[in-house]
Amino acid sequence: MKILINYFSGTGNTKFVADKFAEAFLTEEYSVELFSMEDRDLSNADCDLLVLGFPKFYGYVPLFYLDYVKETLNQSKDTKKVIMFCTESGGTLTSFTEFIEILNDKNYETVWATSIIMPNNYLIKSNYEPTPVLVTEDRINKIFSTVKYIVDNVIGNNTHIETADEEKASRARAMAYGLKEKAGMIAAGYSVDSSCDFCDDCVRVCPTSAILKVEGKYVFTESCINCVRCVNICPSNSITYNGYKPPQYNRLMIKG
Ligand SMILES: Cc1cc2nc3c(=O)[nH]c(=O)nc-3n(C[C@H](O)[C@H](O)[C@H](O)COP(=O)(O)O)c2cc1C
Ligand code: SF4
Ligand code: SF4
Repeated sequence: MKILINYFSGTGNTKFVADKFAEAFLTEEYSVELFSMEDRDLSNADCDLLVLGFPKFYGYVPLFYLDYVKETLNQSKDTKKVIMFCTESGGTLTSFTEFIEILNDKNYETVWATSIIMPNNYLIKSNYEPTPVLVTEDRINKIFSTVKYIVDNVIGNNTHIETADEEKASRARAMAYGLKEKAGMIAAGYSVDSSCDFCDDCVRVCPTSAILKVEGKYVFTESCINCVRCVNICPSNSITYNGYKPPQYNRLMIKG
């Protein structure tokens, strides 16, 4: 059986879980291909089982990832199975319904859809707290067994589709679609302060090339998806959001 694992990860949480899926399938001696949405699209997807991973953004599936799958995954002739996971930090359920319908239309049947709790990477407002160290360690230590449980169940033809409160889900969905229209407003919150040493790391790691250098100054443009990778990669913590300098999330940081 060929397994294809695809994900988006802003700061490393989702990548960490995707890597654990690869490890779990490899221990079962399946063939595994693993790549991020930044590497390429899904148009040449060749697999028997597709694993899709993404972070939760604003209580919902990130719309740019949903669009990526919708636009690049081709219709399959045979029915293929899908495992979907959403990393998040709040311990709330995720509504996968819209994503599952998109996949159904392409003849991909979701057999497992679940949230996976991780340490919080979203610290750009003063009231958003980092996850305490011991809780972080506990969450990280549980990932492999969680993933192995899913893999064993899917191999055994069991299914599980997490369902969220529909009213909350539809509010979160509306907010996610509303924010999509306000990408410029989100980008405008970011700026670089005088501690910046012009290393260009933020520019290099931005998944959407949203940071431009204009006349020696960094400008955040509306392709920003608010993934907070730039904030956390910066060696001098020089990126602020609406004047607030957040603590950096280094636990599982993608190093670019
Ligand atoms: C823009 C943004 C919005 C977020 N919204 C939520 C949320 O609504 N609920 C939640 O539990 N976590 C939320 N988070 C936290 C992330 O979902 C969580 O830390 C995730 O594991 C990050 O994955 P990554 O490191 O792969 O990007 C948010 C993070 C970001 C950057
Ligand atoms: S500019 Fe926006 S999209 Fe780019 S890394 Fe920073 S938060 Fe992410
Ligand atoms: S990563 Fe930080 S120090 Fe480097 S250019 Fe960006 S803001 Fe400046």
